[in-house]
Amino acid sequence: MLGPLPPMLPMALLERPLDYLLAEHHRHRSYLAELRQAAMSGSIPSDKAKRIFDFLAFELPLHWADEKVNLFPSLRRSALPEDGLDEVLGRLNTEHAQDAVLVGTIIAALAAGLAKRRAHVPLAPATCEAMLGYAAAEAHHLAIENAVVLAIAGVRLRKPDLNALSLAMKARREASHVLHT
Ligand SMILES: [Fe+2]
Ligand SMILES: [Fe+2]
Repeated sequence: MLGPLPPMLPMALLERPLDYLLAEHHRHRSYLAELRQAAMSGSIPSDKAKRIFDFLAFELPLHWADEKVNLFPSLRRSALPEDGLDEVLGRLNTEHAQDAVLVGTIIAALAAGLAKRRAHVPLAPATCEAMLGYAAAEAHHLAIENAVVLAIAGVRLRKPDLNALSLAMKARREASHVLHT
């Protein structure tokens, strides 16, 4: 039995942006587990469907932008050629675009199911396939980001880089309507 889905992280953690990103990845794993379980059972309780919808539609895009717009470019400037990050970051950006297609399919299906206002949202086989595909791809993606990208960022990014990353991530959240704790 899976536990409750974790809410958004506290804004205060944005003072330490790499820790925030690591904690965000940990939170993502809970959502991936829930997606897998939903896909296996072919339906999902409406309250969980709503939480997953909010996560995929409003929270995940903030995380993708943190990485694509701020973290990855900052790392490209700071990493050394021997870090070999260029190719890794290019691949991760491609995966973000591929995942966005699967996530779009899942969001549309959840929105349509939630609009019927029943206790459970039934999931069509194509939706389950998208959920399992996204969960598998994202689990691998997170592992590379934790083991390679954040590990190298911890060594290469200096105080000014981390401050700039922190400010950008805060500004992105202040400009969005997504609520933090
Ligand atoms: Fe990513
Ligand atoms: Fe990430």
